[in-house]
This record gives sequence, structure tokens and C-alpha cells, in this order.
Amino acid sequence: AKYCWVDKDTCISCGACGATAPDIFDYDEEGLAEVAFGGDGNQGVTEIPEEMFEDMQDAADGCPTDSIKVADSPFRDLLEK
Ligand code: F3S
Repeated sequence: AKYCWVDKDTCISCGACGATAPDIFDYDEEGLAEVAFGGDGNQGVTEIPEEMFEDMQDAADGCPTDSIKVADSPFRDLLEK
């Protein structure tokens, strides 16, 4: 399984991720990107379906500030450890 999360502390609102993977990313009221897929609310706890892996990876690779994080387990678990 893959999970995705945007580090808003480093996102510069460049907009590349939403253009690359509009099904996964959306922007908050400040224009910062967040993972919106499945109502995730940028918690990084919603499993990203396999058919979206390519878009997700392209977005992560294309982010100029490396703000898009991808992991094999939910981010909330990682944060709690
Ligand atoms: Fe921000 Fe990177 Fe997307 S800077 S808007 S997370 S491509």
C-alpha cells in the first residue's frame, strides 16, 4: 500500500502537483497543496489506489521543494512513533 502526504511547511504553492495528479491533490485557502483524495484532509492515512501510483510518483518527483512524501504505511502512524 502507498500513502501520500504534503509537507505544507515547505510547499511553495507552485501548483505542479495538482496539474500532474488532480485526483490526489487539492489546495487549501492559502494555496498550499494537500492530499485530498478520499477525503484524506492531508492526514496521509488514505490508501492511494494502485492505478494512481504513477501520477503520485510523477508529482512527488516533480515537486521543486520535495514536499510530497510517499510511504508504505500511513503517515499518522509514522508521526506517532
Ligand atoms: Fe507545493 Fe510541491 Fe505541489 S511546492 S503545490 S507540493 S508541487
